[in-house]
Amino acid sequence: MIFFSRINRKSTPAAVKKVVFDEMTISSRVEELASEISRDYQGRDPIVAGILQGALVFTRDLVKNLSFPVSPDFIRISRYGRQSRTGEVEIVKDLQEDIQGRHVLLIEDIVDTGLTLNYLVRILLERNPASLAICTLLDRTELRLAEVPIKYVGFNVNDEFLIGYGLDYREYYRDLPFVATMNLEVVEPRTADRRQQTTDNRQ
Ligand code: PRP
Repeated sequence: MIFFSRINRKSTPAAVKKVVFDEMTISSRVEELASEISRDYQGRDPIVAGILQGALVFTRDLVKNLSFPVSPDFIRISRYGRQSRTGEVEIVKDLQEDIQGRHVLLIEDIVDTGLTLNYLVRILLERNPASLAICTLLDRTELRLAEVPIKYVGFNVNDEFLIGYGLDYREYYRDLPFVATMNLEVVEPRTADRRQQTTDNRQ
């Protein structure tokens, strides 16, 4: 049985430099956050909304641990250029739920400058929710440029490039079960790219 589970585990990609938060650490912190949120929102029927893509994994694990039933909602935004200092975003997939008069808890994977969330919060507040708060797995306050009302933080992190547990490098590595720093010089091709390379090599 042990052998069976071992052969099914994915190997750690070479791009992983150092695991910063392993599966156990993340899972116990997610449970703590979920207990806190469960206490604060009991009987308030909140909308728990993950911001795609990064927060998908964290949102899934968080709602699993809440003490009240909740169906997570999701919003997807597109930023107008990463270097933009306005944080201006376009909503490319909106929430399913009408948030007017409802308590909203936005879920993020990481807050850096805060520009994205600052802008998104302003858009959502125009819809008159009863309240709006933010829960982020990771908070990188040293990069903060804009105020954001973060209520729940999983871990504070410093300015290192992180991958895993939803965080990506060009859409790679979101599926890693841990958060790790990355060797930026080692980027492995995705399976599809590898297949293409193999085909090309045969030609
Ligand atoms: C990341 C993260 C936040 C944003 C934080 O998203 O999920 O939404 O950056 O940056 P900021 O605080 O400096 O504004 P990203 O654009 O990488 O998209 P993703 O969620 O699809 O990975």
